[in-house]
Amino acid sequence: MSFQNETKISVTLTQNPRPKPADASLSFGKVMTDHMFIMNYTEGKGWHDPRVVPYAPLEMDPATQVLHYGQAVFDGLKAFRGKDGKIRLFRAQRHAERLNKSCKALCIPEMDVDLIRRSFEAIVEADNEWVPHTQGTSLYIRPTVIATDVMLGVHPSHTYTYFVICSPVGAYYKEGVKPVRILVSDNHVRAVQGGLGEAKTAANYAASLSAQQEAQAAGYTQVLWLDGVERKYIDEVGTMNIMMRIGDEVITPPLAGTILDGVTRNSTLQLMRDWGLKVSERRISIDEVMEAGRKGTLLEMWGTGTAAVVSPVGELGYKGEKLIIGNGQTGELTQKLYDAIVAIQYGQSNDAHGWTSEVKVPVSA
Ligand code: COI
Repeated sequence: MSFQNETKISVTLTQNPRPKPADASLSFGKVMTDHMFIMNYTEGKGWHDPRVVPYAPLEMDPATQVLHYGQAVFDGLKAFRGKDGKIRLFRAQRHAERLNKSCKALCIPEMDVDLIRRSFEAIVEADNEWVPHTQGTSLYIRPTVIATDVMLGVHPSHTYTYFVICSPVGAYYKEGVKPVRILVSDNHVRAVQGGLGEAKTAANYAASLSAQQEAQAAGYTQVLWLDGVERKYIDEVGTMNIMMRIGDEVITPPLAGTILDGVTRNSTLQLMRDWGLKVSERRISIDEVMEAGRKGTLLEMWGTGTAAVVSPVGELGYKGEKLIIGNGQTGELTQKLYDAIVAIQYGQSNDAHGWTSEVKVPVSA
């Protein structure tokens, strides 16, 4: 069952708007806006009742499926306010398509992609005053689908709720881009082929927590994940995709079933190809990386993700060895990628690939 373009989204605005935080006080995901988008699924009826309503808690029976078996997917994208006053979404279509792919992986009925996009626009329109003004800040949009059957049997739910909430956020790092220390995990794995690694589902983040805690206890910020079979090939870093420059080649692991098809991954690969760089999506072993580090040919390494855009890796810890990358400083290409993506997001450079879309906001009287 699919919705047509003209499916009406009903809008009920809050009578009690809350005070908005100052841009300078924003961190990541702590404050929510005044509204949320909701739509329900019932077997036989399909997705129905798309609506924008005042932000409120969801009431749930303790036996609700998602609380027990984690049939849940989400995504994350951002809206930016440019100096020209326009509000732009970054790659809304790709995020909408990815949400549907995640739904498919978790046996959740897919939604109409156009309606998903319109849900992003509708919530940003309702909460447009919550899009912060300062460069480096944005409105983070979190679409989520949860299984809502009340039952303890293990099978796909027959009912679901799709909701979209928003949070005004600051720069992931106040300094913009700042190198982090990363511990290569050889005792925990994030995902295996045939599993859920390429879906954006709650389970993958739950699976990352104990390794992250261990890394932090050892003085590192995050974990570098190796493949779940040989514990040899690089998969991801923390909650981000990973890239590195060895000599004149930029390398990132291929989309082969265990890693997320990151939107920032895709965008940075495209930019580097536009710039004529040699970019390889190929398997790369931790041994090859360590060897390149020792020889001095590992020039830069960085993670890519919506939250931080790019995050340089300044140090790798592996089996007791410490590898300092690029003198622990942000690399030239890492910085160039960050600057290029951010300029497109804020409408400050030519959006050659049509990645941004404007959200029209009613002019207030
Ligand atoms: C991102 O880098 O955007 C992420 O996926 C992190 C998010 C789960 C907070």
